[in-house]
Amino acid sequence: MTTFYRGAVLHSLAPDHVELLSPGLVEVDAAGEIQRVAVESDYRPSDFKGSRRVDFGDRLLLPGLVDAHLHIPQIDIIGVESEHLIDWLRDHIFAEEAANEDPAVARDRASRCFQQLIQSGTTACAAYSSVHTEATDIAFEEASRAGVRAIIGKVLMDREAPDALLESATTALEDTHRLIQKWSGAADGRLDVAVTPRFGISCSDELLSGAGKLAQQTGARVQTHLSENKGEIEAIRQLFPAARDYTAVYENAGVLRPGCLLAHCIHLSDDEIQRLAQSKAAAVYCPDSNFFLHSGRFPLDDTLAAGVTVALGSDVGAGTSFSLFEAMKMGNYMQTTQVDPELLFYLATLGGANALGWGDRIGNFAAGKAADFLVLDSRDLLRGSTVHEWDLRELLSILIHRGHRARIEAVYIQGQRVDRGRHR
Ligand code: GUN
Ligand code: FE
Repeated sequence: MTTFYRGAVLHSLAPDHVELLSPGLVEVDAAGEIQRVAVESDYRPSDFKGSRRVDFGDRLLLPGLVDAHLHIPQIDIIGVESEHLIDWLRDHIFAEEAANEDPAVARDRASRCFQQLIQSGTTACAAYSSVHTEATDIAFEEASRAGVRAIIGKVLMDREAPDALLESATTALEDTHRLIQKWSGAADGRLDVAVTPRFGISCSDELLSGAGKLAQQTGARVQTHLSENKGEIEAIRQLFPAARDYTAVYENAGVLRPGCLLAHCIHLSDDEIQRLAQSKAAAVYCPDSNFFLHSGRFPLDDTLAAGVTVALGSDVGAGTSFSLFEAMKMGNYMQTTQVDPELLFYLATLGGANALGWGDRIGNFAAGKAADFLVLDSRDLLRGSTVHEWDLRELLSILIHRGHRARIEAVYIQGQRVDRGRHR
């Protein structure tokens, strides 16, 4: 049966273009696909024959948010003290991730992680599991059960970490290949697998180039970290003396490919940024994490100006919040001049969808896309006015800075409500 969702529909059409349809109707078919979106007065009574109506009144309907970078096994260690990346990994994170060897721990963490994402209005994500193949399998099962859209990867590491987290390159790649065969396109296309070399420091040449080859052979996406921290860059220089810079490490291994998700990209040279643009990889801006680990400031304007696709990430557990509203807010705070609210909203929705390679399926309410959206109660923010009495830019800015999780009343993915517990 067709369903008409009624509310104040607000979505991004381009980095500098947000559209408000109020009161708007989103027409969704039985398969959870959007048939049409328009203001209510554009419909005729005959359009509604045999359909169901869900009226959200003055609430806002926003596209589901897209978190392009987070770590599932770090969910319980958020906020643990450390000044910088390398110490934080060594002193806290590696031991925490090692506990994912226990399937019960892995399942509990994954289950809570996806619930947290959904409750925060995030309907699609790109996530790192741990090095454990079983834990990664379990993460896919839990994502499927939660109903979320997720690209997940088994973390690849064969050096510079405790033994418990190291595997041979061959085992790591063979297991990744099996995960790709099992989970690519699973759950009606909601799930996908990313080849996930953690970063250059934790991967030998053999593992990195094997990861590049596997991605090329299978067409799977790659996700990794790039140029987050100055100490990390120095370690890369020592481990890869022949590479001309950090980006070249990934270029040489064939890891830097179209659709590659590169978390952070903070300390790149102009030349490296140009090469990212040419490669059609995406940079993931993780402001909360960058503040927490004192990593530095992502050059948002320069990266966008070079034509690089940019998305937003929570980077939980270096990020302290699952909320992409928080990421939008901090994404503004971290820059030296104000970031346009339209751009922040784009990065959290359509920009993220494009980075994940799902721009034709999600990211806004365009006809033909999946009905992934959230319902947000903003009435007390509007000071007695209705949504369309507001200047759109001011409304967006208020939402970005004050639109937190507690305001979210419902979350839908593919036309199914998913915020009340387990998906069928
Ligand atoms: N670089 C390599 N591993 C990690 C990680 O787990 N978190 C962050 N923020 N950066 C990394
Ligand atoms: Fe990360």
